[in-house]
Amino acid sequence: MFTGPFSSGLFQKAIDKGVVKVDIRDIRHYTHDKHHTTDDSPYGGGAGMVMKPEPIFEAVEVIRTELKQKENAEDIPVILLTPQGRVFTQEVAQKLTKNNKMIFICGQYEGVDERVREHLVTDEISIGDYVLSGGELAAMVVINTVVRLIPGFLGSPESLLSESHNDNLLEYPQYTRPPEFRGWVVPDVLLSGNHAQIARWREEQSIIRTKQRRPDMIRKVC
Ligand code: 6GU
Repeated sequence: MFTGPFSSGLFQKAIDKGVVKVDIRDIRHYTHDKHHTTDDSPYGGGAGMVMKPEPIFEAVEVIRTELKQKENAEDIPVILLTPQGRVFTQEVAQKLTKNNKMIFICGQYEGVDERVREHLVTDEISIGDYVLSGGELAAMVVINTVVRLIPGFLGSPESLLSESHNDNLLEYPQYTRPPEFRGWVVPDVLLSGNHAQIARWREEQSIIRTKQRRPDMIRKVC
């Protein structure tokens, strides 16, 4: 499931350049029974299955032991992807870039044994108010968003400055050649070569666009 997003385009390049390293573990490898059981029915009854604590604890502890030679592995954040977590935003992504390493646990089925939350996990993240069948896609969203903020990931890091959600504004409209396409023209100001005027136009457009599409974001700025 992870190979597509992690082995194409800029992300693959970042891995090749050594900007980022992704290590995917299968929780089943940390089981000790014949059937590699990772889930069981909930105490108290009810529908669905709950992920057992032992393989999750063991996976995290094995990873910490592997890293121990190099650093204080106890300090590595352990992030559970769950619809019950705090909602992921660009600001959360920005803060996560401060961590040199992170462990992501992808919740499955109806949930994860509460003892994993209480005694192993240090942070819980949701990517929005909807429910996915598992935390894997959410982990890929979080990792992708964080990794592209790492210095050395983007060819032109200036593009981070003007993009949507930076400063709680949506990005201004972009145009490229040709100057006229099917009768639709590029705004004159962008062809004027007047950089001060272009900057002013872009800022205005960002504000207009955000007011129209995301008035909730404007309230955050004010
Ligand atoms: Cl992190 N997991 C699942 N299963 N569903 C989600 C989510 C996470 N974030 C939004 N929906």
